[in-house]
Amino acid sequence: MSGHSTYVPKSPVMKWFESRLPLFGLIHSSFVAYPTPRNLNYLWTFGGILSFMLVAQIVTGIVLVMHYTPHATMAFSSVEHIMRDVNYGWLLRYLHANGASMFFIAVYIHMFRGMYYGSYKAPREVLWILGVIIFLLMMATAFMGYVLPWGQMSFWGATVITNLFSALPIVGEPIVTWLWGGYSVDNPTLNRFFSLHYLLPFMIAGVVALHVWALHVVGQNNPTGVDIKNPAKDAVPFTPYATVKDAFGLVCFLVVFAWFVFYVPNYLGHADNYTEANPAVTPAHIVPEWYFLPFYAILRAIPNKLMGVIAMFSSIAVLVFLPWLDTSKVRSAVYRPLFKQFFWVFVAVCVGLGYLGAMPPEGGYVIAARVLTAYYFIHFLVILPLLGLFETPRPVPASIADAVLAKHGGGAAAAVAMGAASAPSKK
Ligand code: HEM
Repeated sequence: MSGHSTYVPKSPVMKWFESRLPLFGLIHSSFVAYPTPRNLNYLWTFGGILSFMLVAQIVTGIVLVMHYTPHATMAFSSVEHIMRDVNYGWLLRYLHANGASMFFIAVYIHMFRGMYYGSYKAPREVLWILGVIIFLLMMATAFMGYVLPWGQMSFWGATVITNLFSALPIVGEPIVTWLWGGYSVDNPTLNRFFSLHYLLPFMIAGVVALHVWALHVVGQNNPTGVDIKNPAKDAVPFTPYATVKDAFGLVCFLVVFAWFVFYVPNYLGHADNYTEANPAVTPAHIVPEWYFLPFYAILRAIPNKLMGVIAMFSSIAVLVFLPWLDTSKVRSAVYRPLFKQFFWVFVAVCVGLGYLGAMPPEGGYVIAARVLTAYYFIHFLVILPLLGLFETPRPVPASIADAVLAKHGGGAAAAVAMGAASAPSKK
C-alpha cells in the first residue's frame, strides 16, 4: 500500500498560496490520500456518478436556457426551435431530458445501496438526512423542469400536482392560488417554475457539499458495515484506487446514458408532451415521469385526497427516521439473513408501486396499490424495528481486512502480512 501521504507544496508560489488558503491540501486530503475502505464494490461508484450528473445537468441546462423562452405563448415553440434550428440543440435537449432520468436511476441505486448496507446508521445519520433533503430538492427540480416545455403533460402534470395542496384545510386554496400566481396554471406559474428550476440545482450542489463533508467526517461505510480500524490494513488511498474505479463505473454508466440519448431519446418521455399545452383539452391519462410513479401510486391508493397527499409526503418523510427505525446493531445486510429477504421484498414493492402508478386508478390496480402502500409503511414502521430485536445476525468479521482475507484466501493473508499493495486474485 502506498500509505496515506499529506500534501506538501513544492514551489514557493504554492507555499505562499497554501499558507494563506490551504485549498490544495484540502483537495489532497479529501480526494487523494483519503483512506477508503479496500473492499468497496461498484455500488460505491454512484456517488461520483451523481456528482458528475449534477454538473452535466447544470451545464446542459445553462446552454439550453440561452435558447429557451420562458413565456406561455413561446415556450413550446422555443423548445421546437432548439430541436430543429440550434446547432446540436437536439443533443443538448436529449442530454438534459434523459440526464434527468439517468440522475434518478443513479440516485435510486445510491439510496437502495445505502439501505442494503445500513449506511444510514450511526454515525452517518446526518449524512443520510442530507441525502433525503437532496432527494426532495431533486424531485422539486425535476417536476418544475418538466413543466418548462409547456406541452400537454407539462401543463396537466403541473395542474394535478399543484392542486394537491388544495386538499389542505383552510390554507389549501390560498396556497394553490399563491403557487400558480393566479387562478390557473398559466404564464406566472411557468415563470416562477423556470426561476426555481434554475435556482434549485445550485442549492442541491450546496447540500451535496455538506453531504460529502459529512461523509468525510465519519468515513465511508463498506459492504461489511465494519468501520476502518487499522487504515494500513483496512484502507487504500482514494487516489488511484477509488478514482480509477469511479471513472470506470462512470464510463459504463455513460454508455447506457448515450444509448438512451442516441437510440431511444423519447422512450422515457410521453408523446403528449409533443402537443402544445391546451387548458381546454385534458389528456386521457395524466402520468408523471417514471421516477415519480411509486409516489403517485401511493397518492392515488387512498380514496381521501388529503390522506393521499399526507401518505405521499409521509412515504418520503419516513426516510428521515430510518436510522432510528432500524433497531439492529449490525449494519450490513450481508450479515442479516432475514433483513436481506425483507429488503428484496421492499425493492419489489417499490417497483410494483411504480408499475401501478402508470396504470389507471381503477379496479384491481387500486386494490393492489393499497396493499403495496400498506406494505411500504409496514416495512419501515413494523418490520425494521422488530427485525432488529428478533433477528439473529451472522458473525460479523472483526475488521475489513479479515473479511477480505476470508473471501480471498490465505494468499492474500500472506500478501497483507508482507505489506503488499493489492490483494492477489481469487483462489
Ligand atoms: C445529487 C445527489 C447526490 C450526490 C451527488 C451524492 C454524492 C455522494 C458521494 C460522492 C458519496 C460517496 C461515494 C458513495 O458512497 O457512493 C455519497 C455517499 C452517500 N450518500 Fe449520497 N449523494 C446524493 C444523493 C443521496 C441521497 C438522495 C441519499 C439518501 C437519501 C444519499 C445517501 C448517501 C449515503 C448514506 C452515503 C454514504 C454511503 C456509504 O459510505 O456507504 N445520497 N453520496
